[in-house]
Amino acid sequence: MRDVAVIGVGMTKFGELWGKSLRDIFVEAALAAIADAKVDHIDSMYVGNMSSGLFVEQEHLGAVLADYLGMGPIPATKVESACASGGAAFRQAVLEVASGASDIVLAGGVEKMTDSFDATAVLATAADQEYEAYYGVTFPALYAMIANAHMHRYGTTREQLAMVAVKNHENGSKNPNAQFRSLITIDDVLNSAPVADPLRLLDCSPVTDGAAAVIVCPMEIARQYTNSPVKVIASSQASDTIALHSRDDVTTLRAVAKAAERAYSMAGLKPENIDLAEVHDCFTIAEIVVTEDLGFFEKGSGGKAVELGWTQREGGKIPINTSGGLKSKGHPVGATGIAQIIELYEQLTGRAGERQVKDAHIGLAQNMGGSGASCVIHILQSV
Ligand code: COA
Repeated sequence: MRDVAVIGVGMTKFGELWGKSLRDIFVEAALAAIADAKVDHIDSMYVGNMSSGLFVEQEHLGAVLADYLGMGPIPATKVESACASGGAAFRQAVLEVASGASDIVLAGGVEKMTDSFDATAVLATAADQEYEAYYGVTFPALYAMIANAHMHRYGTTREQLAMVAVKNHENGSKNPNAQFRSLITIDDVLNSAPVADPLRLLDCSPVTDGAAAVIVCPMEIARQYTNSPVKVIASSQASDTIALHSRDDVTTLRAVAKAAERAYSMAGLKPENIDLAEVHDCFTIAEIVVTEDLGFFEKGSGGKAVELGWTQREGGKIPINTSGGLKSKGHPVGATGIAQIIELYEQLTGRAGERQVKDAHIGLAQNMGGSGASCVIHILQSV
């Protein structure tokens, strides 16, 4: 297998993009990535997208988007893994280049959610239809169950959940592409509208439109395009039961732990070697559980780690979600996994501006689908 590098990135602003269509925003992000990488063609592309059919009644995205990008007749494939679709699309692009099948591949992600009348119901199609969604359980409700179990077993507090949102909004306030750039306080979170107990409005990632794209190529030719390629040193994926009730322990996300084990082994690294991470904080509790399952903190101590400032951008042991995460930057589900790779690329190439983490060499991106039934992890390194 060949080594693979990221050589350019591009994304739209995340938010309510009512003046633009799904194809408009994908093309905007893809053209920005192509210009950034200074490539004159792409051999192939993958598009992460959860549910364009239900959100905007457009399927067959690979062909639609290759056409609108003016890149037909290249092979173009939609990749779906619920909220992990972007990470899964990036993985397909990496594997295609690593295998030698193609040289210049675009990995993109897009979701247009705010045009839909019922985003909550569309999102719930990624849960177990027969045993969860049919009975009215939504993703806020599923993560609320995880939060209650974690609080009960480990003493995680309501305030610690709020601290995740406060931190991520502070990071997002420095990200020009973020949906919510407002600074918030713990009291703001505790007094925001209840959504699914104990989760409140400001514990939730929002409903978002957005697109993101990156260009990958073999490491051996990357320097023809850029002086600062970023090497992909691990790509892993795992799955878990779709229904929460089938799991032995809902305070651990087995797909995250399994994918992390594979990624660390592939990269020859340990959790303490990671300089920063973008993780899937679709709800505040998710960031706490995921940082434990990635091995950054002991099981049960993720809440305490946030309280002690260990995940802060400045002075933290391991800065988490310097982009603002899904909470502040926004969560256009199919684009999220690609946007995580973009934040790592910008951090590892020293392009993150006000959000720049000092001496960042190795970054990890963790993207998951549903209540953790699928998980994709990548580790990137500056070279
Ligand atoms: N964070 C911060 N502010 C938010 C927000 C969020 N997550 N969601 C909405 N808002 C703001 C809106 O901008 C709006 O502000 P305004 O009154 O100043 O304009 C206000 O809150 C109400 O917005 P609205 O769109 O009516 O909220 P809603 O009640 O319809 O939706 C949630 C709120 C939390 C239910 C919705 O964002 C949600 O479902 N999030 C989870 C998405 C999800 O499940 N993703 C998949 C994860 S696996």
